[in-house]
Amino acid sequence: MQSRLQTSRSSSLRTIAAAGAVTLLLSTPSLAQQPAGNEAAHQAFNNSCRTCHSVKEGDNRLGPNLNKILGRKAGALPDYNYSSAMKDAGFVWDQDKLARFMVKPDEVVSGNKMQPYGGISAEEAGKIVAYLQAGGTP
Ligand code: HEC
Repeated sequence: MQSRLQTSRSSSLRTIAAAGAVTLLLSTPSLAQQPAGNEAAHQAFNNSCRTCHSVKEGDNRLGPNLNKILGRKAGALPDYNYSSAMKDAGFVWDQDKLARFMVKPDEVVSGNKMQPYGGISAEEAGKIVAYLQAGGTP
């Protein structure tokens, strides 16, 4: 056990060394403990969603909070004033619905009021789905 831990630790150090300058820039003490992808996903959420959404339970802003959004019924928070389009959407958010909604909200819930929001790339959307699935913890 002890030696396995050491082996994986030293091999990840080697990976960091091999990846060069970019990784070194990212290897601040707090980031070194977690994969850099999580930080990128958190950043993507901050850039595209955080103006209007929080991931904290009960914390509704211009948009509803996105706490445990995967597996949650669309338009279902009791204390948020949804458009009738969202309230009547009639589905549960899964990875696919969520990613498509981020790219083109109107194609998933026609007439929703997530405005002004221009959509993001499928790549960014994928990162944000992972971030939300992890419960919004970076
Ligand atoms: C300009 C503000 C704004 C931005 C930016 C924004 N949203 Fe929204 N979002 C809203 C509003 C307003 C609603 C409510 C829509 C309705 O009721 O029709 C909403 C609704 C949602 C819902 C439905 C929630 C539920 O309870 O069913 C999801 C999921 C969502 N947004 C995800 C995102 C994600 C992910 C991003 C970033 C990629 C994002 N939004 C960016 C304003 C925004």
